Amino acid sequence: MKHIRNFCIIAHIDHGKSTLADRLIELTETLAKRDMKNAQMLDTMELEQERGITIKLQPVRMNWREHQLNLIDTPGHADFAYEVSRSLKACEGALLVIDATQGIEAQTLANVYQALEQNLTLIPVLNKIDLPAADPERIKEEIENILSIPREEVIEISAKDGTNCEAVLDAVIERIPAPRVLASASEGELKALIFDSVFDPYRGVVIYVRVLSGRITKRETLYLLGTHSKFEALEIGCLKPKYSPTPTIEAGEIGYIVTGLKSVREARVGDTVWQSGTPKTELKAAIALPGYQQVTPFVFAGVFATDADDYPALRDALEKLSLNDAALTYEPEQSGALGFGFRCGFLGLLHMEIVQERLEREYDLDLIITAPSVKYEVVLLDGTVLQLSNPEALPEPAAYTELREPWVQVEIVTPKEYLGAVLELVTARRGVQKNLSFLDSERALVTYELPLAAIVTDFYDKLKSATSGYASLGYEHLDFRAGELVKLDVLVAGEKIDALSFIVHKSESRAVGLSLTKKLKEIIPRANFVISIQAAVGATIIARETISAFRKDVTEKLYGGDVTRKNKLLKKQKAGKKRAKQFGRVSLPQEAFLAVLKRD
Ligand code: GTP
Repeated sequence: MKHIRNFCIIAHIDHGKSTLADRLIELTETLAKRDMKNAQMLDTMELEQERGITIKLQPVRMNWREHQLNLIDTPGHADFAYEVSRSLKACEGALLVIDATQGIEAQTLANVYQALEQNLTLIPVLNKIDLPAADPERIKEEIENILSIPREEVIEISAKDGTNCEAVLDAVIERIPAPRVLASASEGELKALIFDSVFDPYRGVVIYVRVLSGRITKRETLYLLGTHSKFEALEIGCLKPKYSPTPTIEAGEIGYIVTGLKSVREARVGDTVWQSGTPKTELKAAIALPGYQQVTPFVFAGVFATDADDYPALRDALEKLSLNDAALTYEPEQSGALGFGFRCGFLGLLHMEIVQERLEREYDLDLIITAPSVKYEVVLLDGTVLQLSNPEALPEPAAYTELREPWVQVEIVTPKEYLGAVLELVTARRGVQKNLSFLDSERALVTYELPLAAIVTDFYDKLKSATSGYASLGYEHLDFRAGELVKLDVLVAGEKIDALSFIVHKSESRAVGLSLTKKLKEIIPRANFVISIQAAVGATIIARETISAFRKDVTEKLYGGDVTRKNKLLKKQKAGKKRAKQFGRVSLPQEAFLAVLKRD
């Protein structure tokens, strides 16, 4: 046990976690060179490789100077902070990677707070020192001043060319303590924390565990203390990063168990894997490890197949995806406008985008996704609180006394010349200032409370463009707060399109209505009749636009023409129709549903 070290790599997006993980895997010869043709070995999903981002945590076991090192690579994006918190609980230490050209960013801070809460040993690693723009001295000062980590502890490396990466491995052995051991109720009692689970189509659910006491042996019958389910350890081992079977997993180690269970919901992350020791303890007397908070989705959207016949295929695809993604929720939804589909819950916009892309790519579906909405709380007249993830279902104002929306605390790091623009942006989104300080002579740290709805829209894009891409953002959830919120409906050609309804703050309703109708005017294709587009709050129309009719039916002139040309045209038209839905006489393309996301 004293020769084991468990640690994860945390960093702000793009500061070089995955690249450093590659170097460590190489140095420890965990993989042969020929197996390392892909950069970013731990980003195993096709989407991760393509976008160059880490979405899922990924463990890997390495050996270095007679020690067993278990590393967990974590995602950097705020949507997936939950993956980071789970990884931290399985470790005693963390490598904090900081880009030597950028310094501390919003997500660096968020990660450090989390790591300190778990009492982890932090090893600061200053990466990218090969770049001419690197400024190690300035950033070491930042690390000392803001994170209170002495500058002598900082290891300067280039993950790209490998400079000084061995020192990182040595520091892991020297500075991170050996695994903590749990005092068990009885000799040999097994307790292991599930920190991740994946669904493998051939093996069923595979769980990733950190053993805190006892040992796991292949073929042994194991129990889960949360759900009281029972399963056989069909195969056990460590990740290198591929499955590598071993006869046992010992206390202090990180490994995987093939369970044969059918859904990740049966083996929830945070649950305790258990087996009685000697003397025997009863299952019902066994005490579970403190697990994780259940992850709840924050953003909801309707997901519909463009072709109504694809509904069963969409249902199957969502079921399969959610086997592997406990944060994704879905329930059937029927929209007057879009027909049968699902209301899905996501961790954030990036998570939503990734699910959409996977559904379309891996399951060959064409989808219409409605504008994402946060979850609201409606206090009804009798005091009951209704959770509302679909604005369409908001009761009439007379039927409730209060409408509450979720608020978040946002931290933004920005160069000081953009501070004015950042403050203007957060204030315009109903932000409440909490703190403003300077990281150094150049950069400010702004802390604000904002409604989650304000950042679910185009906030991130706006922030990036207001600061030429230099600001970074992190957020964490606070609570639900009552507000003057109203439902804004959209009527196209006199018909209310329920899937376009959304909830907005009263003070913003007119401006949002005006910009939305304008945008829809550009998006909705013309027809051979006049189409009116209206935005309404209750019975009051607050904005109106009109799309004029074609003067002449354009298809007319094609008749009697060349047959192949006509067929070609029909085919083209069919393809164009794919991502649009017909509403009465009007066709609404996918962009129409996302138009509410872009506010001017
Ligand atoms: P996420 O997975 O998105 O959270 O990012 P990450 O922190 O894993 O960063 P990643 O390893 O993908 O690196 C981001 C970019 O920085 C890539 O283009 C790398 O090639 C580059 N990079 C990483 N380390 C170095 C380095 O030491 N020097 C230079 N010049 N570039 C580096």
